[in-house]
Amino acid sequence: MKPPQPQAAAARLKKISPLRPALAIVLGSGFHHALAELHVEKNVAYADIPGFPQPTVSGHAGELYFGRLGQTPVLVLSGRAHFYEGHPMERVTFAVRTLAAFGIRDLLLTNAAGGLNKKFRAGDFMVLTDHLNLMGVNPLRGPSAPGLPRFVDLTETYDAKLRELLFRAGKLARLKLQRGVYLAVSGPSYETPAEIRAFARLGADAVGMSTVPEAVVARQCGLNVAAVSCITNLAAGISRNNLSHAEVLETAERVKQSGAALLKNFAELYLQ
Ligand code: HPA
Repeated sequence: MKPPQPQAAAARLKKISPLRPALAIVLGSGFHHALAELHVEKNVAYADIPGFPQPTVSGHAGELYFGRLGQTPVLVLSGRAHFYEGHPMERVTFAVRTLAAFGIRDLLLTNAAGGLNKKFRAGDFMVLTDHLNLMGVNPLRGPSAPGLPRFVDLTETYDAKLRELLFRAGKLARLKLQRGVYLAVSGPSYETPAEIRAFARLGADAVGMSTVPEAVVARQCGLNVAAVSCITNLAAGISRNNLSHAEVLETAERVKQSGAALLKNFAELYLQ
């Protein structure tokens, strides 16, 4: 059987709604409440988009929305496929290739992450300035994608203009946004304190299990990328507590209004 094609998935999306947003947002933990602000025009389950994987983690729905945040048309992806679920990288990044085929120009990725930077507190938000890929794989490994660069430049993975919009959006929401380097691990175990000490020496400010594959593939496809983390916990050995998914979800719930306001303001500024 032929593997699923992003072009076919994009063609399916185009039949669902005449709306043609230039901006897409992927919601991670801490940001799902943005859906409460979204004026939904149409939604579709990932199960009904050919090639989209079904998320299996609680707190990660699998639904794509056509709608408006403020006045701005957006595609919102609620839920993502993680590498730790066992998907190959092609599946983890399939949605991003679909967005590119659909005609999306700008992609905002959001996630939950553990904080390494000593200045960070649980509940802070961090705009990504760069990343370290320690997932052990590169999402572009494999046959080369026709018409796309084999060797992708990642000097400016996270777009300066979109980053600036995030900071302005944060200010409008009276949030002080942190900035820093996101280090991606494959998970699903959390890190050891020794790993966290090593990652801090490598220059990481936050650690998480997503986003980097999507950002790299988006850059290969020529999309502009921005990303923001909800620091749901302090990383292992920095936190006084042991780590748990329950703590991640608790913090995400506590700051959900802020996460939603940040994304709404971003979408509104994006239009101007
Ligand atoms: N480590 C890795 N991924 C995470 C964490 C963490 O501490 N918190 C939320 N996602």
